[in-house]
Amino acid sequence: MRTEHSRGHHHGHQQGRHNEDQQSHEPGLAETLDLDALLLHEHLQEIFDWTAKHQPAPGTIVDLGAGTGTGTLGLTRTFPQASVVAVDQSEFMLAHLASAVEKNQLSDRVSTLQVDLDATWPELADIDLIWAASSMHHMSDPANILSQIGKTLAPGGLLVVVEMDTLPRHLPDDLGFGAPGLEQRLHDAVAIAGWNAHPNWAPAIREAGMEIAEQRTFTYGTDENRELIAHNAQTFLSRMRTSLGDTLSAEDLATIDQLLDPHGPQSLTRRTDLSMRGSRTVWAARPGR
Ligand SMILES: C[S@@+](CC[C@H](N)C(=O)[O-])C[C@H]1O[C@@H](n2cnc3c(N)ncnc32)[C@H](O)[C@@H]1O
Repeated sequence: MRTEHSRGHHHGHQQGRHNEDQQSHEPGLAETLDLDALLLHEHLQEIFDWTAKHQPAPGTIVDLGAGTGTGTLGLTRTFPQASVVAVDQSEFMLAHLASAVEKNQLSDRVSTLQVDLDATWPELADIDLIWAASSMHHMSDPANILSQIGKTLAPGGLLVVVEMDTLPRHLPDDLGFGAPGLEQRLHDAVAIAGWNAHPNWAPAIREAGMEIAEQRTFTYGTDENRELIAHNAQTFLSRMRTSLGDTLSAEDLATIDQLLDPHGPQSLTRRTDLSMRGSRTVWAARPGR
């Protein structure tokens, strides 16, 4: 498998946002992304199949902000004839992705490219499908990224932007202890803190000279694989506990601590009513004529 470092056009954002603070979160984020891929396999495949309706046989695919490779692996499965370039600024994520690619014996079809897209646009051309899942909202200048995407796509190419509408939900409204509505209050706090914040991308996509082919929202809800769901809920709750602690009531903090206590009577791992629910919105667009 080929791994390259950025060669491309700099456009003035020489200061990438990939600082040490971000790096320290990467192992946790990588685990969440991998769990997402495992638990939401069908939901994600629905989005890949929808993509195939718009672009049935791409030969070249670029996965922008590829992370641990959920998109890269799903796209190679969905499009067996395609080769994929997985682009990410993070060495950690790309190493994780590379080992998954090797495990799946896809090294001849996937290459990685380490580049901070805030600083550099890679030298890629005539791409049939550009995929950007949960990554566009990380870019400091999305208008510039979308304009570069428009120039990088082949004439009949397709851009697919995917965003989570909210973080996944796992808990029932009434836990049987604590004040009902804990998860809603957490999600409200998360929204105020700006986690996962993104606009409706359609105006920015049009502004960049592309045409929207379709915009669609895909919902999911599963209670299969309860152990993994509990683990996923634990990861999210711990992150919220750490980051939003100051904004939550003492009662809610106590409830969270009981849920997170692996040996306590209210431990998440003992519950039989957990699920994973949420939705993603997807924009498909073509370069202007
Ligand atoms: C939330 S993850 C999404 C990963 C993957 N697309 C998925 O759906 O599972 C966002 C990814 O975008 C990458 N990223 C963020 N800003 C970036 C930038 N300026 N240049 C390149 N990659 C970036 C991060 O390193 C991270 O791996």
